[in-house]
Amino acid sequence: MARPAYACSKCGNLLEVKLDIRASKEILGRSDWRKTPLSVWKYKDLIPVEPKAKIFSLKEGGTPLLKCSRLAEHLGVKNLKIKFDGTNPTGSFKDRGMTVGITKARELGMKTVTCASTGNTSASLAAYAGLAGLKCVVLIPEGKVALGKLAQAMMHGALVISVKGNFDQALEMVMKSSEKLGMYVLNSVNPFRIEGQKTAAYEICDQMDGRCPEYLYIPVGNGGNSAAYWKGFAEYESLGIASGHPVIRGIQAEGAAPVANMFESNSKELVPVKKPDTVATAIRIGNPANWRKTVRAIKESGGYASVVSDEEILEAQRSLAKYEGIFAEPAGAAALAGLAKDIKLGKIDLSADVVCVSTGHGLKDPDVAIEQSIQPRTIEASMNALEKLLEGE
Ligand code: F0G
Repeated sequence: MARPAYACSKCGNLLEVKLDIRASKEILGRSDWRKTPLSVWKYKDLIPVEPKAKIFSLKEGGTPLLKCSRLAEHLGVKNLKIKFDGTNPTGSFKDRGMTVGITKARELGMKTVTCASTGNTSASLAAYAGLAGLKCVVLIPEGKVALGKLAQAMMHGALVISVKGNFDQALEMVMKSSEKLGMYVLNSVNPFRIEGQKTAAYEICDQMDGRCPEYLYIPVGNGGNSAAYWKGFAEYESLGIASGHPVIRGIQAEGAAPVANMFESNSKELVPVKKPDTVATAIRIGNPANWRKTVRAIKESGGYASVVSDEEILEAQRSLAKYEGIFAEPAGAAALAGLAKDIKLGKIDLSADVVCVSTGHGLKDPDVAIEQSIQPRTIEASMNALEKLLEGE
């Protein structure tokens, strides 16, 4: 059995797959990939799995890029689209990375897969581990995982371990125990996860006929997805498929914003947030493992990271639901909250072409949705009672 590595043994930085642009151009030139429908595996030629690898897929990717005219009008911008990755099989973008990660796990002969998670990674890993017949062990922060995500991990048969601590502590435990216990880590420290997630950027360009948005707003938690998007955009540009790349705007929740703090204070090193807290539990992370990658990605794109408050996140969540029929979980609304804030502060050209990434489905976190909504009205089972109620509305 292979011994997996996630970081460089010399410098300690996380490993990264480097695409051979010239070879990839040649391979793509010989293939009819353009005719294939959108999905993660449409881009198989740009994903490092063995040509004969058995692929474990639930048909992830190919998620809609929704033109949001009502929301745009409400916010006062011209061109707003939402990449709704909450429509993936388990309801979050994690499936893009997991189909590749689990395919790789089987290719490497792994028997047990593991992760620490604020919820979505564990839900996705549990589903794909089931599909591939692998044992799955997930560590979650006690009491801080949204109900839907917990239900998924449990239902798919993972061994769910609730840690009396936060995500950062759980991830540290996973990293330390995995080598000792021979478990394959499928957090975003795993470079193959990033290779799956970068396909969302390819998709956006393909959905825009080879153009790119001018701005991409994206939530930042552990920092893997923002780095993955940048990798995808940069590769597509280098391959000559996209005509440019977007500026990446990383959005963090006020109470869990170590990356945004770096931009704010112009510092080179991350200062972890000891007790991260936010209603967007998916991004309740104080010491992001991918901070170097995401800071580099955001800077290379010409962007920066900033914060939004919990109230701004919830307002964005309600707006997505009300104006566009998009039900996002709080973290999946953080990017839009970032855009709304930039509009208010006059930090963005109102006619710019903007894409906000919505990363997870609202059904993941029913408690937060119910808490902030108008409660159901109870009446007697009579026409009279119904008419009386509707008259008052
Ligand atoms: N949005 C959602 C819905 C997430 O679940 C996450 C991360 C993020 C955004 C942030 O992405 O970590 O790549 O910067 N969720 C992880 C998890 C941490 O365990 O499910 P990131």
